[in-house]
Amino acid sequence: MTVLNETQNLAHEVVEDSNPTNNTDFQTIIKRRLNRRNILKGGTGLTAAAFFGTLPLVGCRVGGSSNNLNPITTTDNNVAIPAIGDLKRPETLRFTAVPHSTAETMSVAEGYKAEIILPLGTPLISGIENWKDNREQSAESFDWRMGDNHDGMWFFGKKDSAYDAKASDNGLLVMNHEYVNSAELSPFGYFVTPDKDAETIYQSRRLASDVRREVNCHGVSVVEMTRRSDGVGYEMVLNSKYNRRLTSSTLATFTGPVAGSDLVKTKFDPTGYQTRGINNNCGAGLSPWGTYLTTEENFLGVFARGQDASQLSATQNAGRARYGATEDFSGWGYLWHTPDAKEAKVADEFSRWDMTVVGATAADDYRNGFNTFGFMTEIDPFDQNSVPQKRTALGRFAHENCAYAPVESGKPVVFYMGDDARGEYIYKFVSNALWSNSDIGGGLKAGSKYMDEGTLHVAIFNDDGSGKWQPLIHGQNGLDAANSALPFNGQDEVLVFARAAADALGATKMDRPEWVSVSPITGEVYVTLTNNKLRGEREDQPVSATNPRSYQARGKDRGNDNGHIIRWAETGGDHAAMSFEWDIYLFASPSDLAAENLSKLNDNNDFSSPDGLYFDPRGVLWIQTDDGAYTDTSSCMLLAALPGNVSDGAPTVTSAGRQTRVGTFANNDNIKRFFVGPEGCEVTGITMTPDFKTLFINIQHPGNTWGAADGGSTPRSATVMITKEDGDVILAESFGPSASTT
Ligand code: FEO
Ligand code: CA
Ligand code: CA
Ligand code: CA
Repeated sequence: MTVLNETQNLAHEVVEDSNPTNNTDFQTIIKRRLNRRNILKGGTGLTAAAFFGTLPLVGCRVGGSSNNLNPITTTDNNVAIPAIGDLKRPETLRFTAVPHSTAETMSVAEGYKAEIILPLGTPLISGIENWKDNREQSAESFDWRMGDNHDGMWFFGKKDSAYDAKASDNGLLVMNHEYVNSAELSPFGYFVTPDKDAETIYQSRRLASDVRREVNCHGVSVVEMTRRSDGVGYEMVLNSKYNRRLTSSTLATFTGPVAGSDLVKTKFDPTGYQTRGINNNCGAGLSPWGTYLTTEENFLGVFARGQDASQLSATQNAGRARYGATEDFSGWGYLWHTPDAKEAKVADEFSRWDMTVVGATAADDYRNGFNTFGFMTEIDPFDQNSVPQKRTALGRFAHENCAYAPVESGKPVVFYMGDDARGEYIYKFVSNALWSNSDIGGGLKAGSKYMDEGTLHVAIFNDDGSGKWQPLIHGQNGLDAANSALPFNGQDEVLVFARAAADALGATKMDRPEWVSVSPITGEVYVTLTNNKLRGEREDQPVSATNPRSYQARGKDRGNDNGHIIRWAETGGDHAAMSFEWDIYLFASPSDLAAENLSKLNDNNDFSSPDGLYFDPRGVLWIQTDDGAYTDTSSCMLLAALPGNVSDGAPTVTSAGRQTRVGTFANNDNIKRFFVGPEGCEVTGITMTPDFKTLFINIQHPGNTWGAADGGSTPRSATVMITKEDGDVILAESFGPSASTT
């Protein structure tokens, strides 16, 4: 018996860093040389004032100022954004901060209740046994159970069998299951069958039933929820016709420019229009028309590639390598390709996870299987027979989540996205079609209208606080067959190898872009940059103004251990604009790490490694953490924050000597710890009901026995449902007695 080592077991911790370019860093290196030249000339380098001397005065742009935090919501937004009433954002956070905790249990702010619901293995239909600690439920039964590692989610209000953004009594809770903890899921641990041919299939063979269980534990759950009879919180509607699992073996369709491309032709579909499975679904999003957007992040980890470089062109090899799949790659320990083929229930059940060239053409093997993952995928939770649509126009990369900008009639729909790997990029997609409120409730048909035709852009952040978007369009700006690193012969190739296209456009390498969220008040866009141990450590990722920290904390190597949150304002407030102005909203840091605590966090609000990020419809920003650097002091957490806007702070200089600009300092009124998860967990996935009375969050990979079944001890990922003890609105106390009189 082999047990997964730590790296294999915690696939979410494995972060790929296959970006070989010297993009930003090329600029940075030039600047360093210039700086050195200045010094040689007797200059002292740039002062902070000079550094931002060219920064446009964002705070003074038309319609906005640092004191103007009136919602920018229009009539359109009131229709499209799920919220009821006209609740304004609290002016201050009045709840008592939750202290640091490393306990086995979770803790939530006083006056609130946090309950575990829908843990791994929960049946969605009657007739199958509840989860048992012996883990002997059949692999097939997971087609009807909650999967593992709950992640991004959304609550869809439902009324009269249809999406209703204002409905709270009844709804569909839709959520991702990002990956599996193999050793905890199998009845046998991480079992490897002795096999004399094992070496030829990369190390070892796994049991067919274990792999099948793991495949079925990935994907998405759709669960109908109804308000409990006491009026507070929700319960699952067992056997609801909406209850559904979509897994890594569910049929999915390609739409947009990559549909039918040679790059996604496989033995399963030699025409390149379909594939099986949605995989490693991480963050999530809502579409303005009321469907669920799920993302495919660390799909690299379930694939394997043998020795086939000599049978592929230089271009084909470069495309694989840019996404981490180099020759002789065996994935992250899942080894889904290894069970005995005789045990396969459908053709290619296991061999499909091996991308090695073994057949005469792409129609004879799964050399392109890898290319069929990594897409923004749309699901209509209200149509239980609908097929997930991989919206290829939004590019292929390690998608974290997807956030749309407030929609306006007659304007394009804009989606923001991050590629979560060290030194990867931030993107936005601008639709060709112009928004119409009549598409709300339009399901996948509306999705085709807004997501299949449009332009993907990648962000370039300049050190002076400005930034620009570069379009990923075949034939423009060198994205053609003459591109040396990876020739592009069409738009399908630009999108499947979006990372390589973004390289060629000089995109800025970021400290692992995780969730994106757009403020409903200012329209500004926020992105968590969770951490990056390579920053300032590896030649190609030196510190820059946007990723300005590299330090040694708590006995670790240098790098950016604690992360930060960047934000920007699109020029003129137009989300389709080609330029923007940015600053760093908040630097995460232990409060006692003085040199790094540039946002002046204190015991009530210090945190590390921001990941999940969600503006609720009032404009309260919820920040979740996935940390490994400060967990000796506190487990991962959820904080509430009331941000201002770009340029509301001041210039600052990091301990690495980089000048940048940080937002208003933290204080007990504008950011506060609301919840701390159980030891060992990650806090992720967040959604609020339209009446603001229930907040759902997810807990991944808890330690100890958190989430265990009655009498059992296996810790299980689960959803946590947070309500106010008095049934009132979440953060209602923040409005205070005077608010109700205004
Ligand atoms: Fe699945 Fe980047 O977190
Ligand atoms: Ca995770
Ligand atoms: Ca994440
Ligand atoms: Ca993370």
